[in-house]
Amino acid sequence: MTSLAPSPAANLTASLTLRRPDDWHLHLRDGAMLAAVLPETARHFARAIIMPNLVPPVATGAEAAAYRDRILAALPEGMAFEPLMTLYLTETTDPADVRAAAASGLVKAVKLYPAGATTNSHGGVRDLDKVRAVLETMAEIALPLCVHGEVTTPEVDIFDREAVFIDTVLDPLRRATPGLRVVMEHVTTTQGVAYARAGGPDLAATITTHHLILNRNHLLVGGIRPHYYCLPVAKREEHRLALRAAATSGEGRFFLGTDSAPHPDRLKEHPCGCAGCFTATNTLSLLAHVFEEEGALDRLEAFASLNGPAFYRLPANEDRIVLERRAAPVTFPAKIAAGDEWVTVFDPGFPVHWAVAG
Ligand code: DOR
Ligand code: ZN
Repeated sequence: MTSLAPSPAANLTASLTLRRPDDWHLHLRDGAMLAAVLPETARHFARAIIMPNLVPPVATGAEAAAYRDRILAALPEGMAFEPLMTLYLTETTDPADVRAAAASGLVKAVKLYPAGATTNSHGGVRDLDKVRAVLETMAEIALPLCVHGEVTTPEVDIFDREAVFIDTVLDPLRRATPGLRVVMEHVTTTQGVAYARAGGPDLAATITTHHLILNRNHLLVGGIRPHYYCLPVAKREEHRLALRAAATSGEGRFFLGTDSAPHPDRLKEHPCGCAGCFTATNTLSLLAHVFEEEGALDRLEAFASLNGPAFYRLPANEDRIVLERRAAPVTFPAKIAAGDEWVTVFDPGFPVHWAVAG
């Protein structure tokens, strides 16, 4: 149960208790970057769906098992965290390997990247006919397909790529594979929200923290902001408002997937900057801010802690976190160190008063 209680302590104006949240879309990378960013997520989240777009990608059950071991080895002493592994779908993915990796409990989803859609997606799928047998196996065993929903056709404008994907790829794919459970990852448009709503119990959508905060003006007006560049790219204000309405609706089909995606500042502040917002550090504070603005703090637990496990058919977490609203704005580190590199923490551009207690 969510409780919103006035707090007697001088600096606290309210507090909110939630079941511990999970992140249903997270990039942890590997090596020094993994070691740097993993604690930022594990501090607040119990579990996360771990994206497989490493170089080379995490494409087989054996590779997922090895990556899981590297994640657990990087977890600081005393922290608890359960990585929920995914496989990167390629045109040579073996249905038997997917079946075995799911049956063992290791793998919780398969990720579809249209080739060329985003970071390290060149090994993704070009011809969906080549993955038909895998999709049919997944429908049979109820293993969700997480979809990066953007076409990569050069003629399609980048702001239209999600809407075109829904009509030309996702809808035909779902009709061709009855029973396939699909998560539309990081929806960014009114069309994405509407399609998710119309889809029935086998369809869900994740929403990122940054897409609840940014529209395309934030990215481009008054100077280009490389740390606001992500994929799918932030859209017009009307789309951001539709995402806010969906996230705060309490509807079970919408849940949090931060898509927290660290890149070294050197590669973000670059003539050809990488896509990704690093939000793991302050996501829960920002979400509390957004839900408060929308008058929906009582629905934050559904979005962050309940709807995701229900879709993935996993139990909700039993322990709780407390969010505190402080009179003075909360500060976060501007950057975190990752080996010899720096990673900029997402700056929403407004004061935030919510902090995770403890
Ligand atoms: O902004 C993004 N960054 N979007 C993605 O789809 C991938 C991610 C990354 O891996 O950097
Ligand atoms: Zn992602």
